[in-house]
Amino acid sequence: ASNFNQKIDYVFKVVLIGDSAVGKSQLLARFARNEFSLESKATIGVEFQTKTLVIDHKTIKAQIWDTAGQERYRAVTSAYYRGNKSDLGTLRAVPSEDAKEFAQRENLFFMEASALEATNVESAFVTVLTEIY
Ligand code: GTP
Ligand code: MG
Repeated sequence: ASNFNQKIDYVFKVVLIGDSAVGKSQLLARFARNEFSLESKATIGVEFQTKTLVIDHKTIKAQIWDTAGQERYRAVTSAYYRGNKSDLGTLRAVPSEDAKEFAQRENLFFMEASALEATNVESAFVTVLTEIY
């Protein structure tokens, strides 16, 4: 069946934030287009992509904003967003347990994902979108 005239039940906006080079753009590329590049260029300003998916029989259009991890965002984000690229286990920056504890304490959702291996990418976005919905 064609999706061309698909009825959209909800439009949700998701904003990706975090230090430069942690892998925000590639996580989104994996989710939105099932693509991955090791030669990803740093994002300038803000970009967005959309992906339409069905959750609980509802058609949800996710508008996902990808921000630049520039210095000026640093004060807000630096302490919180180092847990990504789960395939690079040997270079791990934050122990899993610390991240889980932090997430629990702050009432946040936590998941480890890898854009390269395509692990937990779909699941991370779908969980966030399901939480919103
Ligand atoms: P800014 O746009 O500057 O904020 O950076 P970003 O967070 O968007 O990082 P980006 O997605 O451009 O990725 C930075 C580098 O990490 C690139 O060389 C990617 O190929 C690499 N990378 C991204 N995701 C993964 C991953 O899951 N595993 C591995 N091994 N490398 C990754
Ligand atoms: Mg980027």
